[in-house]
Amino acid sequence: GKVAVLFGGKSAEREVSLKSGNAVLAALKRGGVDAHPFDPAERPLHDLEGYDRVFIALHGRGGEDGTVQGYLELLGIPYTGSGVTASALGMDKWRTKLVWQATGVTTPAFELIDADSDFAAVEARLGLPLFVKPANEGSSIGISKVKASGGLKAAYEEAAKYDSLVIAEKFVGGGEYTVGILGDQVLPAIRIVPGNEFYDYEAKYLRDDTQYLCPCGLPKDVEDRIRAEALQAFRVLGGQGWGRIDFLMDEDGKHYFLEANTSPGMTDHSLVPMGARAAGIEFDELVLRILELAHV
Ligand code: DAL
Ligand code: MG
Repeated sequence: GKVAVLFGGKSAEREVSLKSGNAVLAALKRGGVDAHPFDPAERPLHDLEGYDRVFIALHGRGGEDGTVQGYLELLGIPYTGSGVTASALGMDKWRTKLVWQATGVTTPAFELIDADSDFAAVEARLGLPLFVKPANEGSSIGISKVKASGGLKAAYEEAAKYDSLVIAEKFVGGGEYTVGILGDQVLPAIRIVPGNEFYDYEAKYLRDDTQYLCPCGLPKDVEDRIRAEALQAFRVLGGQGWGRIDFLMDEDGKHYFLEANTSPGMTDHSLVPMGARAAGIEFDELVLRILELAHV
């Protein structure tokens, strides 16, 4: 049947989505699928009538947050990835962490902050450095690392440009990692070593000095245990189909889950394709497998 690849959209991650979507579209076509591009920023979604399945390659609001998923549910068109609940939760870093806390999934200490917060007290409680993040964003947009005392207020103001919910999160400094999830399979972990201060938008998409290590360097038993827990962390949010879970290690070898991405980047340089390749799944096969997992 006819497949629509949804990409572009109006979120702050539009540019990333254009890259993901074009890569997905090309892979589907190479695989003999009757796939067509569909940018919700340019056409109303009700034009989707007549399509048999939808591949969601949108990132951020209005694509990764449950809204498009809910619409497709109502239309009864099978779509890739997580359903409404997991998409909405995964988009919201604060509520993701609340669910994880409640279900015993370890995540760095955090606080919700607002303009009236006692910033000095938050700095004292979480320690420095610390991270400040808009709860609902992707690709590290609006995120700052606060290194010097007194820096929290400016970091809060930057994050608040993107979302009314802002979290401050304790710094965990033993390395940044990620694992892709494909069906019931957890892909090999990747360690990310950014050339700058942290794995921000620049390091993700603009600089070429970010190092990706796969194998990730963790002892195999440790990596396997974390991979199993990552699947659990995905499942407690209700995650389906495919996704990516990011985590940090501390200096003592303890891991902390950071966030779930329910519509991760699918550019040729993205992390899920990298993990899949390490598991012997080339990009085109990965895309076809994700499509096969489409559901309503
Ligand atoms: N939010 C970006 C696209 C990612 O998680 O890969
Ligand atoms: Mg994310």
